[in-house]
Amino acid sequence: MTNLQAFILDLDGVITDTAEYHFQAWKRLAEEEGIVFTRADNEQLRGVSRRRSLELLLGERLGGYTEAQMQEMMARKNRYYVKMLEVITPDDFLPGAQELLEEIKRRGFKVAIGSASKNTRTVLARLGILDFFDAISDGHTVTVAKPAPDVFLYAANAMGISPEACAVVEDAQAGVEAALAAQMIAIGVGPEERVGAAHYRYDSTADIDLDEILRG
Ligand code: BG6
Ligand code: MG
Repeated sequence: MTNLQAFILDLDGVITDTAEYHFQAWKRLAEEEGIVFTRADNEQLRGVSRRRSLELLLGERLGGYTEAQMQEMMARKNRYYVKMLEVITPDDFLPGAQELLEEIKRRGFKVAIGSASKNTRTVLARLGILDFFDAISDGHTVTVAKPAPDVFLYAANAMGISPEACAVVEDAQAGVEAALAAQMIAIGVGPEERVGAAHYRYDSTADIDLDEILRG
């Protein structure tokens, strides 16, 4: 048995499929800038901050842009992304995500969000679960992004739970690294090459086996 007291869930790609919208918005920006940006390229951006994402997208061309141009591109991508969020409804949970959240609460655990996104509250509101969580840690609450542990440590502290008693659910390599750096149990969702460093790995949110995790 473990001494687990709380779960911290990433949002994009774990609870809802906003990871796809992030990709579409970056792809549109890349096309406008004459940059080839594929779904495979996008894998590197999963879970990382808006600014780091732009740096990765620009690659060798990064040095050719001024700070003002970078700011404009980040704002433009975010406009495209926020527009896409308008279609999200409470029907847009990834398979198993709503059930997982309910099961975590039913078993008496605390539950928080730990996301790099500054749009976290907008997405949670559209899903109808803004009031569900004991804490929300997002792109506004910390300045150092994943793979640094800050976003998860902030969530643990806000819940009043020690990091060692928290488990993190993540779909990104950077997020798994952040959870491990925070000394938390890491639960990876996705392929081995992406989240294989986690303590537990499942192909999708729907496959997460709470009993296996709680057995320790
Ligand atoms: C993460 C996503 O949750 O948030 C990344 O996985 C995204 O793709 C990052 O870049 C920042 O999101 P936002 O909404 O603040 O641009
Ligand atoms: Mg994610």
